[in-house]
Amino acid sequence: MQDNTIADRMAPYLQLQIYAKIPVLIQGFPNFPPPQFLRQAIAEEALTESLQYTQTAGHPRLMKAASDFFEKHMGIKVDIAKEIVASSGAQSVLACVFQALLEPNDEVICFDPAFDFYRPLIEFQGAKHVGVPLKPSQLNSKASILNRFENGKIKFSKEDEWHLDYDYIESRLNARTKMIILNSPQNPIGKVFSVEELDRLADILDKHPQVIVCEDAAYHHVVFGGYQPFSYPRCITHPKLKSKTLCVTSAGKMFSATGLRIGFAMGDEKYIRGRKSAQTYLNFCLNPVLQTATAKCLEQTFDGQYFTEIRDLYIEQSTMLLKGLLESRFNLHFWVPQGGYFLVTDISDVDISEKYFKDDQDGHQLTKDFAFAYYIANEVGVVCIPCSPYFENKELGSRFVRWAICMTTETIQDACNRLK
Ligand SMILES: Cc1ncc(COP(=O)(O)O)c(C=O)c1O
Repeated sequence: MQDNTIADRMAPYLQLQIYAKIPVLIQGFPNFPPPQFLRQAIAEEALTESLQYTQTAGHPRLMKAASDFFEKHMGIKVDIAKEIVASSGAQSVLACVFQALLEPNDEVICFDPAFDFYRPLIEFQGAKHVGVPLKPSQLNSKASILNRFENGKIKFSKEDEWHLDYDYIESRLNARTKMIILNSPQNPIGKVFSVEELDRLADILDKHPQVIVCEDAAYHHVVFGGYQPFSYPRCITHPKLKSKTLCVTSAGKMFSATGLRIGFAMGDEKYIRGRKSAQTYLNFCLNPVLQTATAKCLEQTFDGQYFTEIRDLYIEQSTMLLKGLLESRFNLHFWVPQGGYFLVTDISDVDISEKYFKDDQDGHQLTKDFAFAYYIANEVGVVCIPCSPYFENKELGSRFVRWAICMTTETIQDACNRLK
C-alpha cells in the first residue's frame, strides 16, 4: 500500500495557494458555479421532498430519470429493479463494487496512469492492484504541436495516442485476475479507448471468462475529437463486453457539481445484486432531496443540449491551456486529450534546481514530477499535479504532470500568463 495519498503530498502546495491566491490547475472539479437549474431543483425539492430513508438502490424517480436518460444517450436499456443502483458519487460506487466483488488476493488490472483512488480502494479489500502502463506513441514537441494548430484549433490525431501493450496485458492476466478497470475518457491522460482496442481486449478476455470489466465513465459527457457526449466506444455497449461490464458514472461530474455526491452503477443483475448489499450496509441510502433534484435535472437535460454546451466549453478550455503551455518558458512535451477534465505534459526535459528535489518537511528525496510541481508553485505561482502516484512504476510516472482544464477562462489565462 502507498504510505500516503496524493492529497497528503500536495497539501503544502495547496497551502501556498491559500496564501498567495495562485491559479490551481489541479483539482478534478470545476471552479465555476454549477448550472442554475441544479440549484433551483435542489431548492424546490428541499421544500417538498420527504427527508426519511429512501430505497437503498436509489429513489424511484432518480432511477427512472437515470435509466431513461442513459437509454436515450448511451443506447442501453436497464431493468430498473435489477440493473442500476445509485450511490454517493462514482467513488462510493467503485468502493461498493470492489467491496461486493473482490475477495482477498484477487487481482485487478488498471491501465496506468490510473486514477490514484483505485489502488487504495482495491487494497482495502485485500486484493492486488496490477498496473499495466499505456505507452505514448511519441513525445510531441512544442514545434510539432504548434504546426498542427489550424484557425486557433487543434484536433486529436495519431501522434496523441497512448497504446495498449496486448502482450503485456496477457502476461499479467491469470486465474486470480478478477477485474479489469477501464476508465474512458481516462484521468489523467484524456484517452478514449477505440473500438479496435475494445475488440482486442474482448478477444483477450474471452480466454479469462472470470474477469469482470469495471468501466469507469465518470467523464462520459466530456468527449472531444468527433465523439458526442455519452456516445463513444464503450464497454457497456460493446457486443462482446457488455455482459461482463459494470459501468460507473457520476451525476456530480455531469452537472459540474462534484459535491452532489451521486453516481450510478449499471450492469448485469449478478454484479448489481452484490453491490446493492454492500451499499445497504455502508450508507443505506442517499439524501432524498439531492436524488430527486438530480432526477429533475436529468429530465430537464434529456435533449442533451446542456451537455453539448459543456463539452464545447471544455474543448475551448483545453485548447487555451494547451496554447498557454506551448507558449510557456518550459520545454514540455504534449498530447491533445480526447476527453475528460485534464491533460498531461512530459517534463523530462525541464531543468529544475536541486533544492526542489528535497521535501520541505522531512527532507526526503522527491521524484521529478513532485519537484516540478513544487518548483512552479513556488517560482511561477501555478499549481499542477505530479503523476507518479498514477503509475505502478513511479519512475515512469515521474516524467508527467497533470493540468486541469475544468477551470474558468480567467484561471487558465492567469496560469498561462504566469507560465510565459
Ligand atoms: C476517473 C474517476 N473516477 C471516479 C471519480 C469520482 O467521481 P465522484 O466525484 O462522482 O465520486 C473521479 C473523480 O475525480 C475520477 O477522476
